Amino acid sequence: MGLLEGKVAIVTGAGSGIGKATAIRMAQEGAIMVVVDIVPDAGQETLATIKERGAEGIFVETDVTNCDHVERMVDTVKNNYGQINILHNNVGVGGSKAAHDTSEENWDRIINGCLKSVFLCCRTIIPMMLKNAGGTIVNTASVLGLVASPKQSAYCAAKGAMVLLTKQMAVDYSALGIRINCVCPSDISTPTHQRFFASREDPEAVRRSLMERHPINRFGKPEEVAEAVLWLASDSSSFVTGVALPVDGGLTAW
Ligand SMILES: NC(=O)c1ccc[n+]([C@@H]2O[C@H](COP(=O)([O-])OP(=O)(O)OC[C@H]3O[C@@H](n4cnc5c(N)ncnc54)[C@H](O)[C@@H]3O)[C@@H](O)[C@H]2O)c1
Repeated sequence: MGLLEGKVAIVTGAGSGIGKATAIRMAQEGAIMVVVDIVPDAGQETLATIKERGAEGIFVETDVTNCDHVERMVDTVKNNYGQINILHNNVGVGGSKAAHDTSEENWDRIINGCLKSVFLCCRTIIPMMLKNAGGTIVNTASVLGLVASPKQSAYCAAKGAMVLLTKQMAVDYSALGIRINCVCPSDISTPTHQRFFASREDPEAVRRSLMERHPINRFGKPEEVAEAVLWLASDSSSFVTGVALPVDGGLTAW
């Protein structure tokens, strides 16, 4: 029997990268998957992989920064499955700059994508979890929610706030049966990560300098973050709540 047998699990941003790896891994452990993404083709592709491997699920096209979209997505899950046991808030957007170079529009885009999306999904789903005898929530923060980095003003602000929102919600809801944790990945080889390098003047130099900050001497894989998310979402971590778990090859160890 799988670790998540029969549980209904929502993964946001499941069309690519870490979210895709997590949705596929959770399905492998018996979860009924709700694949959420703003890009239909990407979400459908993840769902197709899940189904090819014999698991069950649906794709719900959703912009998780939009309150109406989130409510509609949750209604769809309610109508299909009647419960939500696991929520992985994974959507995040990059493109940060130094504070003096950040337009109001860019600030809002990053704060909404990384932080408001988590608030909206939690606000809408927690009441259902409370009625259903609990659940688990895992947020994808970042090592940039734990330590600062050059020219990452809005992203660091959003991810730092996400770490503390995770802890704060754990304080409110753990005694009521909802454990809430976050993972803090460092550099993980995903499409966003590739775009980040491509946007730099000297991608190879940036790649080398980031690699040197990892004691493990490599970048991570989405599947390695998925394992940590799976553990936090499952009963295997039953006494763990309010934690910001680095998944970073040792980057924050020095
Ligand atoms: N890749 C890294 O190195 C890294 C490091 C630390 C933290 N993270 C965090 O991990 C998470 C996933 O990153 P990734 O690299 O896998 O990204 P990715 O770009 O590969 O995937 C993100 C997915 O989210 C979807 N998405 C974007 N905005 C959305 C919205 N408003 N509503 C619904 N879906 C939306 C995209 O369509 C895409 O499928 C993000 O929160 C990111 O900040 C990534």
